[in-house]
Amino acid sequence: MNPKKILLIIGGGIAAYKTLELIRRAQDRGFEISVVMTGAAQHFVTPLSVSTLAKGRLYSDLFDRQEDMDVGHIRLSRQADIVVVAPATADLMAKMSHGLADDLASATLLANDKPVLLAPGMNPNMWEHPATRRNRAQLAEDGVQFVGPMAGEMAEANEAGTGRMAEPDEILEAVQAILGVPKAGPLSGKHVLITAGPTHEPIDPVRYIANRSSGKQGYAIARAAQAAGAKVTLVSGPVDIAAPDGVKLVSVQTARQMKQAVIEALPADIAIMCAAVADWRATHEADRKQKKDGSGKPAALELTENPDILAYVAQQSDPRPALVIGFAAETDNLIDNATSKRLRKGCDWLVANDVSQEGVMGGDHNAVHLIRDSGIEAWPQAGKQAVAERLMSEIIQHFQ
Ligand code: CTP
Repeated sequence: MNPKKILLIIGGGIAAYKTLELIRRAQDRGFEISVVMTGAAQHFVTPLSVSTLAKGRLYSDLFDRQEDMDVGHIRLSRQADIVVVAPATADLMAKMSHGLADDLASATLLANDKPVLLAPGMNPNMWEHPATRRNRAQLAEDGVQFVGPMAGEMAEANEAGTGRMAEPDEILEAVQAILGVPKAGPLSGKHVLITAGPTHEPIDPVRYIANRSSGKQGYAIARAAQAAGAKVTLVSGPVDIAAPDGVKLVSVQTARQMKQAVIEALPADIAIMCAAVADWRATHEADRKQKKDGSGKPAALELTENPDILAYVAQQSDPRPALVIGFAAETDNLIDNATSKRLRKGCDWLVANDVSQEGVMGGDHNAVHLIRDSGIEAWPQAGKQAVAERLMSEIIQHFQ
């Protein structure tokens, strides 16, 4: 197989020193890497070190073409599979968002038609500055992707905040996710299908039936499955969080759309139905806003039951996922209700959570019971990511 090619653009920031490690680790992961350094970058790391590590594939000036007849900045990105900018400085981001092209780095970015990943690294005040905020919003709209920056100590003494460039391995994981390079892991080769978030069931153009689900638990599970090397499809109702890199996100609004998206995503090896699907929808969705009629009597809202997506997946045979996991949100008789819900729906495992506790629905923590044939386990309260990782390690064991 041909190696995937990264074009790395090194910006002029203190984090430029980390790009030497980035080049080495990219090569360890089988990437071929070429480098463009901005003029400013050369004050932070020497072209000689970069060129030595990059096996001579270093370019630094718009007018210093490698071959006379060649248009350097166009050729450079055409030969790459992805362009990575690290550290992406406030200055480079400003140039990119405005389409400036006065040196090889910015001209290459403007002539580029490949995916672009920015690893910003700058002082926290610069990162939070309204100008940088505008630029990053514009770049995100232009399809540019970001890894980091991270919160923590900065190079400047006594400075903390968000602005530290992501570590080389984090950058390379984002590259692999964007390029669809599968990660090796205990769930490599497995397809995990996850539903998450609430559904919104329209009543009329301005009103809908919804619930308090934030999607955090389902998204955390998607992240854990992706980290375990699985191919992940995340069918999500409307939420405010971003899908993890490399996860295939299918966004839906209603239960019926969610069911359709799940059917299209099958077959899967593992189905984890985490969504808080609205049980009912308005029988008749009005195409105009429903007005008060002046009588003082509330309008009748006729409801119809939504399809049960978990039961559909658990009871299907064409082929049925080897492991089907449901969630049960309960406020009373948690164990009894959840145990009978597992049998009724036909899923293999059921994760039951007590949503009568303040802060579970929409919050960051969860205290759950895992119910399966072999028994019931009570897990202590933990962060939703920790719950996701524990569930993933149970799944990995199940398949060993
Ligand atoms: N579920 C689903 N489709 C539905 C309703 C629920 O796929 N229409 C799934 C949820 O994703 C979850 C499980 O079923 O995995 C249990 O959801 P829950 O809301 O607790 O159960 P309900 O079926 O709504 O049961 P009840 O209203 O009796 O509590």
